[in-house]
Amino acid sequence: MPRGRVLRRREMGEAQADSQPRFPSRKAQGTLVLHATNVHMCVRARALTDDPIFQAMFPAFSTCCTELVDRWESKLLAAGSEGSVELDVSQEFPVLTGDVITRTSFGSSFTEGRRIFELQVDQAKRLMKLLQYLYIPGFLSFLTENNRRMWENKREIEGLVRGVVEKRERAMDKDGAIGNDMLGLMLQSNRSSNSDLRMSTQDVIQECKLFYFAGMESTQQLLTWTVVMLRMYPEWQDRAREEVLGVFGRDGKPGFDGLNRLKTMTMILYEVLRLYTPVVTMNRKISKEMQIGGVTYPAGTVLELPFLMVHHNPDVWGEDVSEFKPQRFAEGISKATKNGQVGFFPFGWGPRICIGNNFAMLEAKMAVSMILQRFEFRLSPSYAHAPCTVITLHPQHGAQIMLKSL
Ligand code: HEM
Repeated sequence: MPRGRVLRRREMGEAQADSQPRFPSRKAQGTLVLHATNVHMCVRARALTDDPIFQAMFPAFSTCCTELVDRWESKLLAAGSEGSVELDVSQEFPVLTGDVITRTSFGSSFTEGRRIFELQVDQAKRLMKLLQYLYIPGFLSFLTENNRRMWENKREIEGLVRGVVEKRERAMDKDGAIGNDMLGLMLQSNRSSNSDLRMSTQDVIQECKLFYFAGMESTQQLLTWTVVMLRMYPEWQDRAREEVLGVFGRDGKPGFDGLNRLKTMTMILYEVLRLYTPVVTMNRKISKEMQIGGVTYPAGTVLELPFLMVHHNPDVWGEDVSEFKPQRFAEGISKATKNGQVGFFPFGWGPRICIGNNFAMLEAKMAVSMILQRFEFRLSPSYAHAPCTVITLHPQHGAQIMLKSL
């Protein structure tokens, strides 16, 4: 299969525009009766973009973030008179983002959902282990310990999802309760569409897996790197806290409208997404022969779009490209680059841009706001700055902070 790499952002746009659109037409967005190939995608898109549904999911963010800060407070209490504790936030945020996705996907079936996602975390780790070896066709069917556990996990996940789906279907039959979560939406769409478009339990399982991987992994990296940056740049931590306290006060629960008004916070999150882009690169298979940057690529060529490299390109961002400077986003994304160039792709670009971007930004704003309302954090001597890519951009040796109550 021919491969290429596209470095200039204009050419990236051309390659991305060629990818298959997610929706058959704009009109189809938000409706659930679509071509079979798009039906799953649109249920998902509706959950993440339809305002009332999205707002109904909002309490799940609040519950999970409250659990996180309460847990940190208990750790501080347990530390007693010491007054501060060391915390590795790269171990804390997966729990938060996993719980958020579990609640928004399964809602009332949270306990079963949590087990499903725990098993998926284990599957991801085992898959990473497999990827470290040279690829041998058929290797997955070898009777190794890792493969055996992967098959067992798969069987358990499928059994649990089937159980949750059947339980919810019975509840829907009995009292019409749908539930404000992804599962409810998927099952509702199944009932309202004709039988050709229905999702099988297997489809529902695949959807839950994709939603989980797409939603949990990258948001946890955004949160981790944000805390790392706020700890390295205490002046930005102070500015962000001042803004949060100004909008919500010390004890106020961050609400939907207030979070959307946080300007400094948005600038900080954008700068983190630029410098520590969770999805560092993306591949696109072009559907027709294309001329990009003077090179002709045949149909079927796989082009690599290295987002992280563009985010670190001084021609696009200026000579201070490597510095943490949230103020570059003070007048929005389009004014942050040199000459208004388009060069910011943390959520991809074009027809397949991430549909969870608002979800992720809101979740991150809520979590960081609640943390800033209660705690301050400073450098821990154990921290070693070593970003490395394991599917997404991780801190290789963890992200340790010294946490103190305000
Ligand atoms: C900081 C957080 C996130 C980042 C950086 C991120 C980034 C991305 C990127 C780069 C893509 C590929 C876009 C493309 O193909 O052009 C993508 C796709 C996607 N993302 Fe996100 N994402 C984030 C959070 C989320 C969340 C929270 C959800 C769901 C709740 C989500 C759901 C999805 C889905 C469903 C897709 C599409 C997958 C497909 O087309 O098959 N993402 N994301």
